[in-house]
Amino acid sequence: MRCLTCTYSLLLALAIIGAAGGAVDKPKSGIERRTFGKMADGKTIELFTLTNSQGMRVAITNYGGIVVSIAVPDREGKPGDVVLGFDNLEGYLGKHPYFGALVGRYANRIGNARFELGGVEYKLAANNGPNSLHGGVQGFDKRAWTAREIPGEQPALELTRLSHDGEEGYPGNLHAKVVYSLTQDNALRIDYTATTDKDTVLNLTNHSYFNLAGEGKGDILKHEMMINADRFTPIDSTLIPTGELRTVEGTPFDFRKSTPIGARIDADDEQIKFGKGYDHNFVLNRAGHGLSLAARVTDPESGRVLEVLTTQPGIQFYTGNFLDGSIPGKGGKTYGRRSAFCLETQHFPDSPNKPSFPSTVLKPGESYHQTTVYRFSVSK
Ligand code: BGC
Repeated sequence: MRCLTCTYSLLLALAIIGAAGGAVDKPKSGIERRTFGKMADGKTIELFTLTNSQGMRVAITNYGGIVVSIAVPDREGKPGDVVLGFDNLEGYLGKHPYFGALVGRYANRIGNARFELGGVEYKLAANNGPNSLHGGVQGFDKRAWTAREIPGEQPALELTRLSHDGEEGYPGNLHAKVVYSLTQDNALRIDYTATTDKDTVLNLTNHSYFNLAGEGKGDILKHEMMINADRFTPIDSTLIPTGELRTVEGTPFDFRKSTPIGARIDADDEQIKFGKGYDHNFVLNRAGHGLSLAARVTDPESGRVLEVLTTQPGIQFYTGNFLDGSIPGKGGKTYGRRSAFCLETQHFPDSPNKPSFPSTVLKPGESYHQTTVYRFSVSK
């Protein structure tokens, strides 16, 4: 006869070993939620931290859909926060250059802060010289979003908001939904969807400032950048595209082969001068409509690698040329000029005034859908 007690003891022992071996070494994927602070009108804002079983952690607030931190391991397995930002909501409520923010309705610039749609002229806030930048005075980055946690193996946070007809001058009631998911292969995936009840224009992006060495750890000039683009959209002195799609061949904008960001950033080149470095939209080489590789960045020092995949036609490569160390960031660190880079996946700037660019018009009955993936790994 079999010894039942022996079998139970054996199973119990195996369970204990399993629990100790598994749960202790392997972090559990999940979502933590805590109060982040209060807005001026008294509204409570929260911070959600998504963790995967590799130990990657991403903190996102429902204020502006801002990505507050991304902690990923370096070559030695040591985690580091690779995005610029603040420790508390107060920092984000103050003046800052869109750290980590969800930008809308129209990310990037619209020339002369106006556009025409269906024979009607729409006037926007001129908040960047003569132009409108990143959705106006109170864009999507400065609004409280409704949050819903989606737990599971791939923890996610859904953010929704209704942008009313006329908000910041844009037509149509726009229902926007953004889902941030943390995958098991150390990627932050962002799915954007939207519908409208009137013709409108739309261009949504995320404005994270990355430094793969860790935020506050100097400049990003030695990071190596690959951008999968044969062409870029040259700009005028107010950073509005001229309408031309220019080849990158023989210019400081040729990143088809991985090149240190700093190698040509101060080149004697009119486009570089207009941007005070890189602040340009690249026309992505795409194969079909799905996700395709837009950029790959490597920090040779820490070994961290960031790959950006997207369904979008363009990407703004911005090298933090306007950062000047004047805003104290996380732990009181200062973020100096070029201490981070942004890779903002997008439609081309000023598309509403450039009929030759891919259209940013969204009509009733249509559904806007874009996806961008920021995937992290390490090089040897
Ligand atoms: C723009 C920069 C701007 C930055 C912060 C980027 O998307 O291209 O010119 O300074 O956002 O607003």
